[in-house]
Amino acid sequence: MIKTRLTELVGIQYPIIQAGMGPFPVTSLCIAAANAGCLGLCSTFGTLSRKSNPVVFEDFVKQAHAEMDDDDVTIFKKMFTRVFEETKESGGIFGANVMVSAEVRDNAANVMKAIKELRDGNAEMRERFKVLVTTAGDPMPWAGFVKEQGMIWMHVFPGVRTAARCKKAGVQVLIASGHEGGFHTAWQPVHSMTLLPDIVEKFSDENTLVCGTGGFCDGKSVAAAFAMGADGVQMGTRFLATEESDFCDLWKQLVIDCKDGGTLIARGFVGPARWLRTDAAQQHAYNTAKDAPGSYVGVPDDFSKIPLALLEAERKGVAATYMGDVENAMAGAGECAQRIEDKPKTADMVKTIMADTEDILRNLSKKYIVE
Ligand SMILES: Cc1cc2nc3c(=O)[nH]c(=O)nc-3n(C[C@H](O)[C@H](O)[C@H](O)COP(=O)(O)O)c2cc1C
Repeated sequence: MIKTRLTELVGIQYPIIQAGMGPFPVTSLCIAAANAGCLGLCSTFGTLSRKSNPVVFEDFVKQAHAEMDDDDVTIFKKMFTRVFEETKESGGIFGANVMVSAEVRDNAANVMKAIKELRDGNAEMRERFKVLVTTAGDPMPWAGFVKEQGMIWMHVFPGVRTAARCKKAGVQVLIASGHEGGFHTAWQPVHSMTLLPDIVEKFSDENTLVCGTGGFCDGKSVAAAFAMGADGVQMGTRFLATEESDFCDLWKQLVIDCKDGGTLIARGFVGPARWLRTDAAQQHAYNTAKDAPGSYVGVPDDFSKIPLALLEAERKGVAATYMGDVENAMAGAGECAQRIEDKPKTADMVKTIMADTEDILRNLSKKYIVE
């Protein structure tokens, strides 16, 4: 058993956060992760696919145990309620991953409304649905909401500048997101090996915890995060390929089949993204280089000038994956996909990772003689 400041603050058994992975539903995964003793997170981006990607939206609604004609706030409430009910026995702790960038502010406001309506006046809900993870935007506008709700506040960010903003806003857990990570990546990318220790050195103090995300998937990488001073890790790709994960079979299989160097960067919805190297993704990378090169030089392109066909290819590629269409499939995942070869039960996977982490930490002083 490894106790860290994260396990103490959140009241979880293991210092592991299961990443939100929208716009896809991860509701069953969130339940499995919370029941396994991790912090489980729901994705909340799904209702934005209502028009743009009906295949994904339908899955999101299904996993939320909601109805297709429910409004967005109701869908979110049903999703959180499902997690609450199905984690009652274990007393699992869970939260919401919410993208807060300007383009999706209305969606974020709907999520916050659902959170408030569920938590107000429900002591058990407040006790277990207690974490808000904001991402992909400025955390500051949400400081008042988090304070009023008394939630534990975490924010995912890719660089030192946003970390400073988080600190100013009162974020309690900084999640430093390295360039290895799955799907959306930063315009100016820095990998976990550089970013995580930098953030620990600059921001970790008695009121501020630091976790790493991007590339963590087993005992070796988790032990390395601890060596770099992290209080815990968030994992996406590793949780994606589990038995309970809501991702479709083809998506999971593409992660399992991913070989050496099997991911690439190309445009993805709001900016650069890390995709598995399928034929369609490779073609998309060529098209990105031609029509939206900002993804490769760290400068946002003028969105209005990006050809519609390029944007359409991303949506179609994801939909193809959902339809089991290998030839046209595009699916996001992290570099660590090349190290993932199985689709275990979530609880077994978490136990193995933490047992391996303990072994590594215990045996370090035997392997490396410090004189
Ligand atoms: C398929 C996929 C979808 C993702 N979608 C989101 C998202 O909507 N919001 C977000 O904050 N992070 C998203 N992420 C990033 C994860 O939350 C997490 O930070 C990342 O997966 C960590 O890197 P790893 O994949 O190496 O574990 C996504 C990741 C994947 C693989």
